[in-house]
Amino acid sequence: MDKILIRGGNPLKGSVQVRGAKNSALPLMAAALLAEETCVLHNVPCLHDVFTMDKILSEMGMAIDFTGRTMTMDPKGVSSHEAPYELVRKMRASFFVLGPLLGRFSKAKVSLPGGCAIGTRPVDIHLKGLESLGVKIRIEDGYVVAEGRPQGANIALDFPSVGATENLMCAASKAQGVTRLTNVAREPEIVDLANFLNGMGAQISGAGTDLITILGVDSLGGTEHVVIPDRIEAGTLLIAGVATHGDVTVLNADADHLPVFLDKLRDMGAEVEVHGSRIRAAAKNGLKAVDVSTQVYPGFPTDLQAQIMALACVAEGASIIKENVFENRFMQVAELTRMGAVIDVDGNSAVVRGVPKLSGAPVMASDLRASAALVIAGLAATSGETSITRVYHIDRGYERIEERLASLGADIRRVRDGQ
Ligand code: EPZ
Repeated sequence: MDKILIRGGNPLKGSVQVRGAKNSALPLMAAALLAEETCVLHNVPCLHDVFTMDKILSEMGMAIDFTGRTMTMDPKGVSSHEAPYELVRKMRASFFVLGPLLGRFSKAKVSLPGGCAIGTRPVDIHLKGLESLGVKIRIEDGYVVAEGRPQGANIALDFPSVGATENLMCAASKAQGVTRLTNVAREPEIVDLANFLNGMGAQISGAGTDLITILGVDSLGGTEHVVIPDRIEAGTLLIAGVATHGDVTVLNADADHLPVFLDKLRDMGAEVEVHGSRIRAAAKNGLKAVDVSTQVYPGFPTDLQAQIMALACVAEGASIIKENVFENRFMQVAELTRMGAVIDVDGNSAVVRGVPKLSGAPVMASDLRASAALVIAGLAATSGETSITRVYHIDRGYERIEERLASLGADIRRVRDGQ
């Protein structure tokens, strides 16, 4: 296994390309199961999670060619309506094939996803919604067994779950009749999925608002689509620049996807400028503490909570960070504390007392975004060396992060563990 070594203290300067959104590419790949002709996705990020989804779909019979950042998917050979446990357990997003399989085959057998580091992450909202579409659901040996062609219905989600919204959009796109989904997720990735499905011939309106209306159709064709930029990667890179008192510009980003986050950086004293698809963040002087409360979109994204906590560790004053979306998403706290951070956790709330400096230390990655927080803290540390093990967590969501941070002036490298 690899590890990443960082000697912090270098201000990051320069510009770096933002890749396509992981949390859009994955549901788009799953949705291609609904097409009867070839689909082409551009700006697909080269990430472990994308390779995992590629493997799952290929094993189901999808012919996939992934060259550069273009993915060509021919679903004509898809014959299996099953997603096996040994693949689903590796990545929760595999569960997003359930809706597309129902739309294509009117039946599906998908392993229940295991829990993960950030919580049990149930799928009750997915299943309740599918039952509202008239699908028969039973749990058998750890699998969800679903049968029946979806029938249009009016559904109010108990919680605006991103994955449940995506599964229901896919199932409803091939339903008999009209489906109205309310209390739905409004993330940019939901809009991207609706645009992809409409490109295939679906009749979806209202994505990004509180009411999505879907007129079911009998067949969907192929399409070509460009994956939206990864707003979480953009935010992570901007925080790295600010945490090192540098000046970083992310290219091919969409500031409209990060309204609350960018204002929080400004509240901390960073200089933030937006010029079209370029976002620049700089912090020449000290940073101020800030209070953050994660919310569903368009609120502060839970996927940037760990990263801004790392930034708060070196800000002046006390920051209160509340995690309202997941039940256990403070995995970064123990490791940040080992680097000199002062953080008190009480339930879903953490009080971060800024310290003058962090020190490098051996730390272990736990989940994707907590790992990104450790990288940021390592870059900000002004003494010692940070060595991060289990970096496969980072590779799930960030393309060669060490190369891209090094291009901004970071003293960071990847070595084989044991070196
Ligand atoms: C998506 O996960 C993202 N993953 C997550 O990103 C992101 O954190 C999350 O949305 C919230 O924005 C992908 O898109 C692949 P949810 P998802 O269903 O769909 C509870 C990352 O780091 N819930 O919106 O699984 C759930 O337990 C990952 O890139 C139920 O209770 O998230 C959680 O507390 C992490 N029952 C909350 O809702 C359900 O049926 C939000 O979950 C479904 C969800």
